[in-house]
Amino acid sequence: MKYTDIDFNTKTILITGGAGFIGSNLAFYFQNNYPQSNIIVFDKFRSDDTFSNGALKSFGHYKNLLGFSGTVISGDINDKIDLKELEINYKFDYIFHEAAISDTTVQEQDVMMKTNVNAYEDLLKIAIKHNANMIYASSAATYGDSDRFEVGYEQPNNAYGFSKVMMDNITAKYIKQGINISIVGLKYFNVYGQREFFKNKTASMVVQFGHQILKGITPKLFEGSDKIVRDFIYIEDIIQANIKACNPKKSGIYNVGTGKARSFEDIVNILQHELKIDNGKEYIPNPFIGSYQFFTQAVIDTTKENLGYEPRFTMEEGIQAYIPEIKRLFESEVK
Ligand SMILES: NC(=O)c1ccc[n+]([C@@H]2O[C@H](COP(=O)([O-])OP(=O)(O)OC[C@H]3O[C@@H](n4cnc5c(N)ncnc54)[C@H](O)[C@@H]3O)[C@@H](O)[C@H]2O)c1
Repeated sequence: MKYTDIDFNTKTILITGGAGFIGSNLAFYFQNNYPQSNIIVFDKFRSDDTFSNGALKSFGHYKNLLGFSGTVISGDINDKIDLKELEINYKFDYIFHEAAISDTTVQEQDVMMKTNVNAYEDLLKIAIKHNANMIYASSAATYGDSDRFEVGYEQPNNAYGFSKVMMDNITAKYIKQGINISIVGLKYFNVYGQREFFKNKTASMVVQFGHQILKGITPKLFEGSDKIVRDFIYIEDIIQANIKACNPKKSGIYNVGTGKARSFEDIVNILQHELKIDNGKEYIPNPFIGSYQFFTQAVIDTTKENLGYEPRFTMEEGIQAYIPEIKRLFESEVK
């Protein structure tokens, strides 16, 4: 589906983090809808390196890009030489900046700030030099302990959420200075959908519960999960927001969610209904209390107003659309 009148067929598009979940979906969106567009995926890809929490340092996976016919560059946004090469070898029209330490539980604050905050400003400088519009990924994690999910009410409760607030602050500073390009920060809420599987334990609970159910294991929910509610958003609506952010009425920072909080219990109920498997539910203590969001719900009025964004998928519809892929992954990757 085309979400804008812009003809991307004549455009050069950089997608950092393009081997990851959201970045690879963007890459295929352009390839499928604008086959003449020049798409450059820049990603660190994965190695065996892990953080102290045991998770991989980067989740990029070639399998997310199977069938992709654009350019793939393996590089690090923290490497000034890699960035210089991007700057001199291309002339970008749009930069979609998805590369980041996306794991909200990473404890290494030094690498978190370097990767998420400082590298973003370096890329923003390239965008300004190229006269390219910048669309970057912020996060609902910026709200942390806040009970108001509107830009301006951020209260991050972990290093990841803080890093995204710093990205938003940089954005506000540049917008205030007055620049020729548009900059749009998108505060994604909890995203689920195809090409998230290789995020391992940080993939959404939709795919994780789906595979537990298919394995015949009783899905494990945190205690009180009927009251832990979040704004879960299907990948297709995230793509919509990104595309509409290419031509905003106003540069700025916008929430991207459905505007409706749903419980983790709802996810399991919908999955069990769709998969036609009822293997009950098991409740386990929540080990993340203190840095865990029990309620998120995006206020999306300004996103609608300034980007023309309108969420299309309820959780029932998103999960239903995702079911064939959950089953395919189960057969090819899990079993
Ligand atoms: N998925 C969600 O629910 C969600 C919610 C809020 C915000 N976000 C943000 O959206 C963006 C995309 O997230 P995602 O879910 O696709 O995660 P992801 O981990 O699948 O994608 C991030 C990509 O960045 C790459 N990367 C990491 N460090 C890099 C580096 N130093 N240099 C180059 N590439 C590097 C990884 O290899 C990976 O492919 C991230 O900025 C994330 O913080 C995601």
